[in-house]
Amino acid sequence: MKLPNGQTAFAGVLGWPVNHSLSPFIHNRWLEQNAVNALYLPFPVQPDALGTVLLALPKMGCAGVNLTIPHKEAALDLLDGVDETARRIGAVNTVVMRDGKTYGHNTDAYGFITSLKAADYCKDNALVIGAGGAARAVVTALLQDGFACVTVMNRTREKAEALKSLGRAVEVVDWQPVLPHADVVVNVTSLGMHGQPELSVDMKHLPPHAVVADIVYAPLETPLLVQAKAQGFKAIDGLGMLLFQAQAAFSLWFGINPEVTDELRQQVLKQREGV
Ligand code: ATR
Repeated sequence: MKLPNGQTAFAGVLGWPVNHSLSPFIHNRWLEQNAVNALYLPFPVQPDALGTVLLALPKMGCAGVNLTIPHKEAALDLLDGVDETARRIGAVNTVVMRDGKTYGHNTDAYGFITSLKAADYCKDNALVIGAGGAARAVVTALLQDGFACVTVMNRTREKAEALKSLGRAVEVVDWQPVLPHADVVVNVTSLGMHGQPELSVDMKHLPPHAVVADIVYAPLETPLLVQAKAQGFKAIDGLGMLLFQAQAAFSLWFGINPEVTDELRQQVLKQREGV
């Protein structure tokens, strides 16, 4: 990496904690590959300091930041502007700084749908399992992509019902071990993550062309995806969503669409082992 000089710009990620973030690795690789004179840094920011930091950064030449836990929702009221997608999702994961002002975006929906596009899928109906913060981005992405029906299934049914406000095509079913028919199934719960119980479901009602996606990427192959592959379904892991949400953020800050390659995927996985 070239040493910084008087023209070096910067971007970063604000989180608490932030030390497990893979974003510095991903963005600094792209900055280097695209010969952009900038650095991307992790900033540990406590929840009560977010407002102060978002006021100061644009006045220090910062190009923009990503926001991660616990700042994504809190930022909505702290920015000069928030785009339609972020407002609808109710969370900001990318802030662009321009002329001393802050503008909020959400690139998670783009990240998810771009990652899903690695598969051919039918847009009749999707089943989203889970109804937390990530579910809002995934449901929004599926609706924007034109799915006729997006069914949400969550252990706590009221939280699934709340997602109906995202669009008329959203329906809710009770939590059940046998998955109902769906062209695309997405796990957005924390089940299947390292240290969590697995998501245990029966896929007998899925059609042969069904695509099963998981937004978890540690492990890369969750038990759900292993099961889906064993039954002949196309499986989409969570790393693509991470990389494509980063791609859209990079493009907003630096005006360059960086490449998401297999090589980058491998490097990020290797990096993850080290953090
Ligand atoms: P995120 O912002 O990453 O989506 P979250 O808001 O904490 O995280 O949401 C976690 C999701 O995982 C929720 O849908 C949660 O279900 P509840 O709404 O019923 O809590 C789901 N989840 C977590 N542990 C679960 C478990 N043991 N069984 C079923 N669902 C679980």
